[in-house]
Amino acid sequence: MIEGDLPGGNVRLHFDDETATRQDIAALLANRSAEAQVYYCGPPGFMAAVGRAAEHWPEGTVHFETFQPPDFDGAPPEPFVIELREGRMVEVSAQTTALAALRAAGVPLLASCENGVCGTCECVTLSGQPIHRDSVLSKDARGHRFIPCVSRATGVLKLDL
Ligand code: FES
Repeated sequence: MIEGDLPGGNVRLHFDDETATRQDIAALLANRSAEAQVYYCGPPGFMAAVGRAAEHWPEGTVHFETFQPPDFDGAPPEPFVIELREGRMVEVSAQTTALAALRAAGVPLLASCENGVCGTCECVTLSGQPIHRDSVLSKDARGHRFIPCVSRATGVLKLDL
């Protein structure tokens, strides 16, 4: 077992299944120094624990990478319409994603995970009511960004495309 600090003192390892090295995440993130940023990635329980512990940290200081789409309430996907900058309307049926509908309409969009976790397909929202179902946008970014591979909308959503 590896325990404690590694040579150089910059990395510490903590093992959740070892009482002696278990980390108290809430205590660790309770107080933030002026320049501190947190970056994290890991299994769902760890992600949730760090997310909860850092809820009071300022916007833009918490960064994470996840490999699992968030759980949803099981509600069926809503049909909606995307309005393009030029005024063209693209229907998104309940059976498809906004990403697929946009591509079918000839709008070229990059994508990678297609699960709402990488941010590659991120678009700018101009107006409308998005229903965010991604796990990549920050609370602040949700006010003006949209993830078309998983997110939906109510009515007409105007995108800067
Ligand atoms: S392609 Fe990864 S978030 Fe949309």
